[in-house]
Amino acid sequence: MRSRWLDVRLISLCVLLSGVVWLIGISAIGSPTPAAQYGRPLVLHETRETPLDLEVAGDLIGLAPGSVRYLKRADLRTFPPATFLVRNDPNFMAPTRVSGVELMALLRKVSGHPQTDMIVAVCSDGYHANYRHSYIEAHLPLLALLLDNKPPKDWPKDSETHQQDIGPFLISHPDFQPAYKVLGQDEIPQIPWGVVRLEFRDEATVYGAIAPKGPHASDADVQDGFRIAQQDCFLCHNSGPEGGQKAQRPWTVLASRAAASPDHFAAYVRDPRAENPSAQMPGNPRFDDATMHALTAYFRTFAEAAKR
Ligand code: HEC
Repeated sequence: MRSRWLDVRLISLCVLLSGVVWLIGISAIGSPTPAAQYGRPLVLHETRETPLDLEVAGDLIGLAPGSVRYLKRADLRTFPPATFLVRNDPNFMAPTRVSGVELMALLRKVSGHPQTDMIVAVCSDGYHANYRHSYIEAHLPLLALLLDNKPPKDWPKDSETHQQDIGPFLISHPDFQPAYKVLGQDEIPQIPWGVVRLEFRDEATVYGAIAPKGPHASDADVQDGFRIAQQDCFLCHNSGPEGGQKAQRPWTVLASRAAASPDHFAAYVRDPRAENPSAQMPGNPRFDDATMHALTAYFRTFAEAAKR
């Protein structure tokens, strides 16, 4: 026979349980992602499950340098959500509502050293977009999970050839405005599409690979050329293990071209197709003589270093 006490305790347990169920119900109805989910401990998976997972690598919190892990979309949705109507991103043919995760939130939570690390976004074709700490602070770049509320399979194709998928990830900004000029050249937005991997890397190491060399390293024109090359050339051209792999022409090749034939180098950089009809490299018609002079002076420091 059951005692009355047990009955009372059973009844209170039922009341308590129904209260919990009610609370869960309310929070699930109240918002698509319960607020309690944000700030959940980060889980980095050892294996990729779908092509839509984000690969993360480099300096990952609590892991050996150079580790590679994966974040599922569900993991990315546990970060505080950010949504902006973007009107001035050349990757979009029309104003687009971009929803996703701010790179600053990713840097803070995923990197082993958020104060000194940067983010390198790597695309499937070897293109690299580089996000220094100062850039992330100034421009609030966002890793897009949804465009106009749609997942990557429903995203439009690229805005240039209209043939290529722009997912699984792309990076946009709420409203990019150049923060500085070098020799009349505006800062350019870092807006990669086809992003498959984010690397968390020591900023000094990454840019150290392309710091000018030799006796002219600190000349003003060389330093100006360095800043332009960082944002305009490092996207596709590499220096050793750092920088983009898309061009398959490393810094040493550009250096020898700049040293051997500055005129041809300048002509190529401004209008590659005029020099090589099958060139894939985009032209830089906006580069004036002062800009080309600085870039050439900068790249030549590597050729001089190689000779010594
Ligand atoms: C979007 C990718 C991309 C960017 C950005 C880029 N390049 Fe290139 N570059 C290429 C590719 C690809 C090639 C290989 C030839 C071709 O298809 O044009 C190349 C080739 C070159 C060459 C000819 C090398 C040779 O073999 O003779 C030079 C010089 C050059 N790039 C300089 C630059 C400089 C300087 C910058 C920065 C102002 C730059 N590139 C930015 C993609 C790029």
